[in-house]
Amino acid sequence: MHAAMQSWRARDSKPTDIMNKQARIFVAGHRGLVGSAVVRRLRALGYEQLLLAERRALDLTRQADVEAWFAAHRPEVVIMAAAKVGGIHANNSYAADFIRDNLAVQTNVIDAAYRNGTRKLTFLGSSCIYPKHAPQPMSEDSLLTGPLEPTNEWYAIAKIAGIKMCQAYLRQYGFDAISLMPTNLYGPGDNFSLENSHVLPALMRKIHEAKQAASNSVVVWGTGTPRREFLYVDDLADAVVFLTQGYSGAGPVNVGVGTDITIRELAELIGRVIGFQGELVFDTTKPDGTPRKLLDVSRLHALGWRASTTLEAGLRRTYEWFCANESQLRR
Ligand SMILES: NC(=O)c1ccc[n+]([C@@H]2O[C@H](COP(=O)([O-])OP(=O)(O)OC[C@H]3O[C@@H](n4cnc5c(N)ncnc54)[C@H](OP(=O)(O)O)[C@@H]3O)[C@@H](O)[C@H]2O)c1
Repeated sequence: MHAAMQSWRARDSKPTDIMNKQARIFVAGHRGLVGSAVVRRLRALGYEQLLLAERRALDLTRQADVEAWFAAHRPEVVIMAAAKVGGIHANNSYAADFIRDNLAVQTNVIDAAYRNGTRKLTFLGSSCIYPKHAPQPMSEDSLLTGPLEPTNEWYAIAKIAGIKMCQAYLRQYGFDAISLMPTNLYGPGDNFSLENSHVLPALMRKIHEAKQAASNSVVVWGTGTPRREFLYVDDLADAVVFLTQGYSGAGPVNVGVGTDITIRELAELIGRVIGFQGELVFDTTKPDGTPRKLLDVSRLHALGWRASTTLEAGLRRTYEWFCANESQLRR
């Protein structure tokens, strides 16, 4: 093992018994893509004391409400899957909303958790926290080594502040808060709206609608050459539970699969899963984004966790969910 990794493991990784089956666990954002998968995973493992609060009952941007809720419920474990999330268009158009809401939600929850005796908090960041030109695959050590991708820097800056809050609360108060950085996620419960969604659900919806309309072609934005990594959300949920119970330390941990594919390969695979016979047309006048975004998952693997769902299997399950829920999805 690399010497730096050895010293990192010795310093940062220690087992904890916090996730006993009777623990009161607050999953913030339980109706979202990640939160709903974490709830599924916890229930499957036999956790019964889940604390869940819908936004209309508890708006996490409201500090006084968050403090009162934590004082009343005193969760022992907090999994932070609540955030204002969106694709390039949403990030670009609603810069103020993205930075304000994310800073408010995470500041309120992390502080209230610490003040009300929470024993473990898991904060979720995102791969967009790393510099635009970080060496690939992107290691946790590239954090704050260069400028961010400008289109989502509002969101990324908020998420970096969340990591730093976890580190600061650990350093000053000994609060056991950890940060996990998931790669691009997909799965049941994803946002399939054409305007605000990420690339995978947007492609799935477009190709599905082209098939329904018996169209001979689908237009895909960009050249199809950028490479991206995709993790099935139930695998992420498994990693979240695994690391919440087994990892403590200041260092963020990337959560990904460790391999990537081109957007063209992804669109072709989605086409096969859907049974679309038409042609994919690449609109090269549209922007490609960064050529490659892949997480270095050696820290995650050293901690003993690996993704297990293949992209094809994950896409099939996601498409089943999409078809079953199509009538209720946002445009
Ligand atoms: N999706 C990805 O590809 C991806 C990749 C990397 C990291 N992540 C991280 O994973 C986390 C969750 O993302 P996601 O994809 O699951 O997002 P999501 O599907 O949009 O879910 C976010 C959840 O947060 C809730 N929420 C947002 N603002 C709130 C507020 N003010 N008060 C109460 N609840 C609020 C939402 O409630 P409503 O249901 O009421 O809207 C929703 O349930 C985020 O931290 C994100 O950075 C996601």
